Amino acid sequence: MSDNPFILEPYKSKELFCDRETETQDILRYLENGRNITLISPRRLGKTGLIYRVYDEICDRKLPFETFYMDISSTQSVDDFIRILSESVVTVLNHQTRISDFFKKIGGIRPVLSYDSITGKPEITLSYRDEQERNLTLKTILSYLESNKKTVVLAIDEFQQIREYDGVNMEALLRTYIQPLHNVRFIFCGSKKHTMIDMFSNARKPFYESTTFLPLGKLDINVYADFITELFARSGKTIDRELVLKVIDWTRDHTFYTQTLCNEIYSRCGAVVTAQDLTDSIQKILSSNQDRFLELQRLLTPAQWKLLKAIAKEGYVLHPTSAAFISRHKLTSGPSVLKNLNSLIEKELIMAETESPGTRYSVYNIFLSRYLEKTG
Ligand SMILES: Nc1ncnc2c1ncn2[C@@H]1O[C@H](COP(=O)(O)OP(=O)(O)OP(=O)(O)O)[C@@H](O)[C@H]1O
Ligand SMILES: [Mg+2]
Repeated sequence: MSDNPFILEPYKSKELFCDRETETQDILRYLENGRNITLISPRRLGKTGLIYRVYDEICDRKLPFETFYMDISSTQSVDDFIRILSESVVTVLNHQTRISDFFKKIGGIRPVLSYDSITGKPEITLSYRDEQERNLTLKTILSYLESNKKTVVLAIDEFQQIREYDGVNMEALLRTYIQPLHNVRFIFCGSKKHTMIDMFSNARKPFYESTTFLPLGKLDINVYADFITELFARSGKTIDRELVLKVIDWTRDHTFYTQTLCNEIYSRCGAVVTAQDLTDSIQKILSSNQDRFLELQRLLTPAQWKLLKAIAKEGYVLHPTSAAFISRHKLTSGPSVLKNLNSLIEKELIMAETESPGTRYSVYNIFLSRYLEKTG
């Protein structure tokens, strides 16, 4: 077991998780008041971690909820969705009689349960005669949760993925089955802001106004700085405030990148963290990512790569099609910049954030941004 306190997984314990107190309390209050929640943030900011933080709090305070979590990022179809859902149910039931009871309820389709020999995670195989039987299975699993003694919280992570299912309106199907439930609260979680907002605030879509929005922002810089200082101190290491602020600034306070840099610094520093430790850690991170970035360059057109680099060099860009920006970086023309910009946004290489003066663009992956900044 590693003793590095800067975790690179969504959640380990409250002590190693920075803040999110307001969000945790808000989510609990919504759940206690019968509301479903839509949790949105850019990738790698801490949505999944926050869900686990809330679940931990529910457990600590012995709140009357039973919590379930499913990540549907790898699903391509309703079949996959049902499989992941039933595996997440079985993971929580974790008791032979409860699992048998669950299987009895969905028994018509003869589920087969096995356990992964390495991870020990349950794996379920389901087979249906037809679409009707499949839909009925989904309905039955949700009804099973509805009949649970305690109120169920079901978090569906990467929810926007249901739009990728071929030949089925999964939103409509799910909404039909979810609407009558009173004993199940949903946390719909996703990083594709446009899709998520369209799903939950477009009057023509099935989930219209069915949830409370919770947009997750970056951590407060001072709170995060205190947290980082404290984690070093707990292991008997000292770090200057100025250095901590540099770490947060270099990683633009984007949690995953900040945690990774802190993890690297911690792994190489002595009792006092020095400016050289920071420089070496940055160097190490950039060089260990270099092959990946070069591979990415091969996958993009030269014009896309040039635009990505131009945005990285400026950090944040408000008017990427302006004459000034185009001439500063020797790009071709407004329309071609716009086309490449859209395609980089689509590939999640550029992040578009709508803020008060307008939309601002930046390179999504902070390490890539810092790498490109330095290239000629
Ligand atoms: N509050 C926090 N305190 C400490 N580390 C955090 C915190 N939130 C997130 N992290 C770090 O950031 C990483 C990304 O968090 P997480 O996986 O929860 O993000 P996400 O928004 O679900 O990302 P994705 O959209 O890619 O699924 C975690 O692995 C962890 O290292
Ligand atoms: Mg996540």
